[in-house]
Amino acid sequence: MVKVIAIDGPASVGKSTLAKKISEFYNAPLLSSGRLYRAVALEIIQNKIKINDKNKIIRIAKKLKSEDLNSSCLFSSEVDTIASKISSRKYLRNHLIGFQRSFPEKYGKNKKFVIVEGRDIGTEIFPMAEFKIFMWADAKIRAKRRYKQILKKGQKASLVRIYDKINARDTKDLNRKVAPLKPAVNSVLLDTTYLDIEQAFSVVKHILKK
Ligand code: DC
Repeated sequence: MVKVIAIDGPASVGKSTLAKKISEFYNAPLLSSGRLYRAVALEIIQNKIKINDKNKIIRIAKKLKSEDLNSSCLFSSEVDTIASKISSRKYLRNHLIGFQRSFPEKYGKNKKFVIVEGRDIGTEIFPMAEFKIFMWADAKIRAKRRYKQILKKGQKASLVRIYDKINARDTKDLNRKVAPLKPAVNSVLLDTTYLDIEQAFSVVKHILKK
């Protein structure tokens, strides 16, 4: 039976980077659940749907396909903003549960692990996951890492603005009424403030051996 590795944590903590590394090493299918919210947000933007149009948003969520999660348009700042807004709606979260819970069965046949990363994976989506990791890092460190990433791509960035944005996202994710970001029961806290990606990955390999 395939084992679920649930990884949760705040914005820019390196969840998807770490998850990709685990996925490559163990040949484990990976679902980045933020892409579901981003894909719905992208449809809303492209079809000029009103952000309060519950019925249309539910229809988008119901029609969501795996291919929609690979669009290169999912990471614009416009999508960021709309995804963040709609992700606090309970009706949308409820409609995205099935997609996430069916992932191990659909993609995990003959695999040792599947990885699902997001904000509520260990708490709401897979409370019985075999492995639960809650990633954390100081907001200043996360902002610096994000800043360096953007500069590396040859783009301009403001460290102060990135830091403010991360803080605003944290406040929203941690305090929202619906599915707030919090460590799941039985989760391992992986604080990467002073760890680089290789060190974090070593910790994970150690956890997965148990
Ligand atoms: O992880 P990300 O930045 O791609 O997530 C996009 C948005 O979706 C972000 O505002 C947080 C939200 N999200 C969520 O509410 N629950 C999840 N399981 C994953 C993401």
